[in-house]
Order: sequence, then structure tokens, then C-alpha cells
Amino acid sequence: MSTERLFSLRNRWFTVSVGLTAAVAVASILIGFVWLPSVQTDSPFTGLWNAICSAAGVPQRWLVSTPVTPRVKTSEVVVTPTMFANADALSIGRGATLALRCSMCHGPQGISQANSPNLAGHYETVIYKQLKDFQTGARTNAVMSPMVAALSDQDMRDLSAYYASLPKLRAYHPAAQPVPPIVASGSPMRNIAPCASCHGAADHKTGTPWLEGEPVAYIRAQLQAFASGDRHNDISEQMRNVARQMTPAEIEAAARYYSSQP
Ligand code: HEC
Ligand code: HEC
Repeated sequence: MSTERLFSLRNRWFTVSVGLTAAVAVASILIGFVWLPSVQTDSPFTGLWNAICSAAGVPQRWLVSTPVTPRVKTSEVVVTPTMFANADALSIGRGATLALRCSMCHGPQGISQANSPNLAGHYETVIYKQLKDFQTGARTNAVMSPMVAALSDQDMRDLSAYYASLPKLRAYHPAAQPVPPIVASGSPMRNIAPCASCHGAADHKTGTPWLEGEPVAYIRAQLQAFASGDRHNDISEQMRNVARQMTPAEIEAAARYYSSQP
């Protein structure tokens, strides 16, 4: 029997077996924690540190810092093209009854004589979204906020169905009045898409209000409110980004253009 000590670097068997074990461990760590995670493309694995933590099973919430909370209340409404696919006569009838409270400002037929926005023929999604936003405080107005406080979700759907069923004011733009450039082509250098690409004429995006025939004072006030950030219920700042970049002359021109009626 050999008298050589077992745990000694001079023992060839010891060095070779420990060395091999260490090599296997290092190789597995590299494969398991670095190589395999780094070729994963799902978001929890992006970045080496994330990948290592994910591979080691570290819960994601330990890694995520507290989310940024907006300073102002933003809209919680999700608008989809089919959210009002089946408004029925009953809903419209209930809406008509509920709308009696609204007619002194928005007009008996949804066309305002009092510089409040017209609601007749407006898209249901838009009316519903605005009512919801007034109720949650994402959009604030001294008159409207208390008006919607007690409305149920169904009330808002019925009001939207009713107003959407009324005939809207049509566009009226005599050939003698040229289309303001900001409406027709926007301003690519300032990142402004043409108004008509969202608000109709060229294209209509879901959740975007009908502007034709709205009172000039209302359109002007809304553009100023978006520009200053007083109105901040537009999803992804779609309108704030447009309005901030507009000059006062462009706001005036767009307001006059859209409010034009015979
Ligand atoms: C005392 C007047 C008044 C009454 C009553 C009133 N509104 Fe309004 N409404 C306004 C004004 C003013 C605005 C514009 C608010 C702003 O400038 O932000 C408005 C805005 C709205 C909007 C947003 C329109 C848009 O195009 O963005 C909707 C929808 C609306 N009202 C629905 C209603 C409904 C439904 C009722 C009845 C339950 C009602 N309003 C009652 C004055 C009124
Ligand atoms: C990227 C699409 C987009 C473009 C471009 C755009 N808008 Fe809008 N606009 C919206 C959306 C969406 C809303 C509704 C915001 C909300 O949810 O309250 C809106 C709301 C408005 C309102 C408020 C109407 C109401 O009844 O509440 C006015 C006024 C308006 N836009 C004017 C304009 C003008 C003028 C231009 C061109 C200079 C323009 N918009 C360009 C998407 C757009």
C-alpha cells in the first residue's frame, strides 16, 4: 500500500479528479447560465445579467424597479372598432331618455347652440371614451365632470348609442376656401401628421372624434388645452404631440376650417 497522502497536490489521482470535476462544473455554469440564456430572445432573458438571473430562477419582480407613475391621470379606456357592434333600439331609447339632461347644452338633437361640442352622429366609441374619461378624471371640466359622476357604464353606452344614431353635421368646405396646409398635409418637419389622416377625409382612426361643424371656440379651446397639457386624456399623447407643435395661426386656421358650415 502506498504511503502517499490522499489530499495532496502531489497525488496525481487527486489533482486529475478534482481538476476534472471543476472543469465540468465551470463548463455547466457557462452553458447553463451564460450560453443557453444568451441565445434566448424572449424579453425576460434579454441582456446577460437578466439572462443569468432568469436562468438561476430569480423572480422578475426583484429585478424590476418601481414603475413610473404619471403625474396626471391618464385614460384607462381601451377603444376597439367592435366595442359597439350591437347597439340595439332599446339602448338607443334609454339613451334618448337619459339625454334629456344633456340637451340644454348639447342641443335637443345633439347639435349645440351653446358652444358645447355637438354629439349628433359622433362615433359611439368616442362619446363613450370621453364620458368614461370625465368620470375617472382623466379629462376634467367644471361642467361635465359632475354631469357624469352618477352615470353607470350601461348609461354611458346607451347615451353613446343614442347620440351616434342622430344625423351628424356634414363637412361644408366651399371651393373658394382653400384647405389649410396643416389639415391637408400636416408638417413632416415638426412631426405633425395631417389632421385628415386621423379625423376623416383621408382616413379615420378608431377613437378619433368627428370635427366637422364643431363650434370654432370649442376646437380652438381643445387644441390649446392639448398644447398646454390641460387636456391629457388622449391615448399615447396622440393629440398633445400634434397640438404642441402647432402655431397659433395654424390652430386658428384648423378651427375655422373644421367649424365651417353653410
Ligand atoms: C351645462 C352644459 C352641459 C351639460 C348639461 C352637459 N354637457 Fe357635455 N359638455 C359640455 C361642455 C362645455 C363640454 C366641453 C368640455 C371641455 O371643454 O372640455 C362638454 C363635453 C362633452 C363631451 C365630450 C365631447 C367631445 O367631442 O369630446 C361629451 C361626450 C358630453 N359632453 C356628453 C354629455 C352628456 C352625455 C351629457 C348629459 C348626461 C352632457 N354632456 C351634459 C357642456 C354640457
Ligand atoms: C395621430 C392621429 C391624429 C392626428 C394626426 C390629429 N388628431 Fe386630433 N385627435 C386624435 C385623437 C385620437 C383624439 C381624441 C383624443 C381623446 O381620446 O380624447 C383627437 C382629438 C382632437 C380634438 C378634440 C375633439 C373633441 O371633440 O374632443 C381636436 C379639436 C383635434 N383632435 C384637432 C386636430 C387637428 C386640428 C389636427 C391637425 C392639426 C389633429 N387633430 C390631428 C387623433 C389625431
